[in-house]
Amino acid sequence: MARMSVSRLSKMKSENQKITCITAYDASFAAIFDQAGIQVLLVGDSLGMVLQGHESTLPVTVDDIKYHTASVASTAKNSLIVADLPFMSYSTAEQTFENAAILMRAGANMVKLEGGEWLSESVKGLVERGIPVCGHLGLTPQSVNVFGGYKVQGREEEQAEKLLADALLLQQSGIQLLVLECVPVPLAERVSKALQIPVIGIGAGAQTDGQILVMHDAFGISAGFCPKFSKNFLVETGDIRRAVSLYKEQVEDGTFPAAEHSFY
Ligand code: KIV
Repeated sequence: MARMSVSRLSKMKSENQKITCITAYDASFAAIFDQAGIQVLLVGDSLGMVLQGHESTLPVTVDDIKYHTASVASTAKNSLIVADLPFMSYSTAEQTFENAAILMRAGANMVKLEGGEWLSESVKGLVERGIPVCGHLGLTPQSVNVFGGYKVQGREEEQAEKLLADALLLQQSGIQLLVLECVPVPLAERVSKALQIPVIGIGAGAQTDGQILVMHDAFGISAGFCPKFSKNFLVETGDIRRAVSLYKEQVEDGTFPAAEHSFY
């Protein structure tokens, strides 16, 4: 089977088929997710928290993401592999191109960066240079210190309008996928309907085109706390492969996320 592509993801959106995504950081889990038919694997900078034990994603480096991208790419042959550009690795366009190239050479099929309007030129430049881009709006964890904590974004009308405008601008600039994190359900639905590209939610309700979870949250093994928007699929199944299949099934039939995992 050919690797998942952005055009197949777009087709899934147009056919109202839900897209299932999960984070992956190593070869063994990547193989399990790949074989389960998970469409997108994200080598997320969440690895700074769930693998390295930091309080935020800020200490993660391009070398860290490069290392884990290569591990994931060694076994994931069907899923689309997205690699995060970590904190301060895309401050200027030149820096963005260099670091994105490092991650693509390590095995990524797409890079993800956090932020809105200010990234427009960098996104255009990446796409012109052959690098597919995923945007990330809402609660963007690299800006946790600006937000003053991990808080739901877009509750205020002005903030919601800005988020929608940023999403449309990023789409126009060339992103082919958008992650929307921790926003109220009505806003997530509005953004998903307004955009032609697939919108992948995390803490954004069931009306987005797909879902993503941090794998440690999906298995209930994160040290510390499990976010409200996540669900432990391992506790019901007692087996990693069955837990992954249950997650995919519940995303596809719309039972995950339920109201209890969503913000209003
Ligand atoms: O780093 C990450 O895992 C992410 C997800 C939370 C979407 O960006």
